[in-house]
Amino acid sequence: MRVRDVCHTYATDDGPLTVLDSVSLDVAPREIVAITGPSGAGKTTLLSLIGGLESLQAGSIEVADLSLGSLSGDALAAYRRTTVGFVFQDYGLLGTLTALENVELALTFAGLRAAARRTRARDLLDAVGLAARAAHRPAALSGGECQRVAIARALANGPRLVLADEPTGNLDEHATDRVLDLLRSLPGEHDCTVVVVTHNANVAASADRVVLLAASHLAPAERLS
Ligand SMILES: Nc1ncnc2c1ncn2[C@@H]1O[C@H](COP(=O)(O)OP(=O)(O)OP(=O)(O)O)[C@@H](O)[C@H]1O
Ligand SMILES: [Mg+2]
Repeated sequence: MRVRDVCHTYATDDGPLTVLDSVSLDVAPREIVAITGPSGAGKTTLLSLIGGLESLQAGSIEVADLSLGSLSGDALAAYRRTTVGFVFQDYGLLGTLTALENVELALTFAGLRAAARRTRARDLLDAVGLAARAAHRPAALSGGECQRVAIARALANGPRLVLADEPTGNLDEHATDRVLDLLRSLPGEHDCTVVVVTHNANVAASADRVVLLAASHLAPAERLS
């Protein structure tokens, strides 16, 4: 992943608010990078830009040889579906669906038959240690289990890049450790690169590299801390 000179300004009632000012970040294949920084610094904005959820205003973002600024609407939708996998603090699972169905839903566009989708979803739940919980709805799962389902879902279409926004923000220490183990296993087990936004010192410490986003700029964490 290569982020180059990305700037982002929101229009607010109080006038333009620049949250990213010439932000650049290279992440190597299978690297795990943690982004930290104060609340409101623009971490979610940066992750949304990388994930193609927010449109690029200035600068460039390349992921797996795709340049996001030049993708058409359809190509961008395909990028969001298959090249990246998103994990959110609040899991983002559908409450009316079981764990298995939540993962299957992400496979809707994968061109698999229903039976193959079900098999793949089961395999993914197995990979996150939740095979026995497949038939439970989110309300009957712990926060840590929900987050592992969300990670299984993010992996559904074999993403090259997993983007996680405070994935352990709602979890206790034990559940955080399990999610952390899972994130750490992704490069080796699923051949993906991981960018994780976190306030958790353990999560940051277990990344290959930590960067700090503050005052609209990004820098290696040790230089500013
Ligand atoms: N759609 C929007 N319109 C206007 N301002 C926005 C919008 N989205 C975010 N902002 C503002 O941009 C700034 C950066 O927001 P962002 O969510 O990226 O921060 P963050 O670093 O993720 O914070 P946190 O750690 O609290 O999640 C904040 O001041 C926020 O209020
Ligand atoms: Mg945020």
